[in-house]
Amino acid sequence: MNILHVSIECYPIAKVGGLADVVGALPKYQKSLGYNPSVIIPFHQNQFTRDAELTKIHKGSIQLGEVSHLYSLYKLISPDLGFTVYMIHVPRLLDRSKVYGHSDDTERFITFQLAVLDWINIPENMPDIVHCHDHHTGLIPFMMTYTTTYTNLQLTPSVFTIHNAQYQGQLSFNKLYYIPSFDRKKIGMLDWDHRINPLAAGIKSAWKVTTVSPNYMKELQVNANGLESLLRNEGKKCVGILNGIDTETWNPETDPMLVKNYKLSTLVSGRKANKKWLCDNFDLSIEKPLFAFIGRLVTEKGADLLADILEESLSNTGINILILGSGNQEIEEKLKSLRERFIDRYHVHIGYDEQLSHMIYAGADFLLMPSRVEPCGLNQMYALRYGTIPIVRRTGGLKDTVIDIGDGGFGICHDQTMVWDVCYSIKRAIALYQDQVAYKKLQRRIMKIDHSWHRSAQEYIDLYNSLIQPK
Ligand code: ADP
Ligand code: GLC
Repeated sequence: MNILHVSIECYPIAKVGGLADVVGALPKYQKSLGYNPSVIIPFHQNQFTRDAELTKIHKGSIQLGEVSHLYSLYKLISPDLGFTVYMIHVPRLLDRSKVYGHSDDTERFITFQLAVLDWINIPENMPDIVHCHDHHTGLIPFMMTYTTTYTNLQLTPSVFTIHNAQYQGQLSFNKLYYIPSFDRKKIGMLDWDHRINPLAAGIKSAWKVTTVSPNYMKELQVNANGLESLLRNEGKKCVGILNGIDTETWNPETDPMLVKNYKLSTLVSGRKANKKWLCDNFDLSIEKPLFAFIGRLVTEKGADLLADILEESLSNTGINILILGSGNQEIEEKLKSLRERFIDRYHVHIGYDEQLSHMIYAGADFLLMPSRVEPCGLNQMYALRYGTIPIVRRTGGLKDTVIDIGDGGFGICHDQTMVWDVCYSIKRAIALYQDQVAYKKLQRRIMKIDHSWHRSAQEYIDLYNSLIQPK
């Protein structure tokens, strides 16, 4: 079975968040199950693509309204990521260093989708399954089924995965002319609330819709940033499949980004060396429990509360806090301004730093995830694998993956994204840390939990199989 994953991000080529991790790992596991997955992404101008060996395998052109664009399709030759990768290059449009945040993102994403379709509409390039990820690729299932241009793809099954329904990619109907001619009776498939809504179009048009955890699928029926009724109506073709993690990349025993590698039997000395590196580099004390936060500094992640949480906790308890992230400027400023007050107990590193994130999973004692919305969340699974205890709000995938110690589990959970709730969880964590025997026993337990992709990769294969007609 030839599976084509269509995405904007793919680790290690271009990563902003968990989407990249999923698209960079799931195909690897699908390949190990004996299938033939590949990934197609836009060409990103960055260190990876500068160092990589790429070969141009196809040239074509697409029409975005009145403008025609030439595109080139590159295949990644090396490094070998364990699955085939294609990149679409369009001069001045799909050749940028920044993944998102351009004023012409709508045009960029539609151009990308048109080029993907133009290429796979050629019979020898047709996959058996087209698996689209998030709103940037949500018009593909619609265009495969209803346009008069890509008719070869009408019978090819499409799967659409919602990684985060907060982002829907809406555009005005003024831009309808970007979409090649289609059966006008189907215009409603594009529409949500009088706008073209690529996320909604993906949900309506794909053969199957998945979300990245079962609990998030349930939550979407009541809280989907305006799409609740749509998700309720389409419920029959929707399923929640829990994300996994790439246990090869995320392995404390071999991870090249750590100062010291460790396994279960060397957990204490290994983690201590990594914690020492963090404390030395961020002026923190190794004696105190270290609480960390890694992620986008946005309200969805509860990052707007971090300043109050750390003021309250640092004033009343003897802990250290380290934050790694970037996002909302106001949140960034507030977090930076608190550094002066708690100079030897708190540090914030604004920016994106893959290596530092690995060091934090390996050296912090607790990881804070006070998310308001968390469709799956990967950080908590990385933390578990590295022996860092997650403190999470019971929402989305966090609820599916972390069970409170009070319920026989291995993490610390709270129900609200509120300063008080998080601070109370921090107090529970401190009590746990003070009992070093229980704390270390828990670390050993969490490192043994299997969150690899094995099971979920098979669930996706079963889903694809249910769509493919026997030949
Ligand atoms: P989301 O995709 O919503 O941001 P996830 O938990 O699914 O959240 O995935 C986040 C991924 O991005 C993880 O791999 C995490 O380690 C990484 N990450 C987030 N922010 C940063 C950062 N500032 N520096 C390095 N890695 C980061
Ligand atoms: C999104 C979600 C996150 C999820 C990730 C990968 O970015 O916000 O919760 O883990 O996608 O599916």
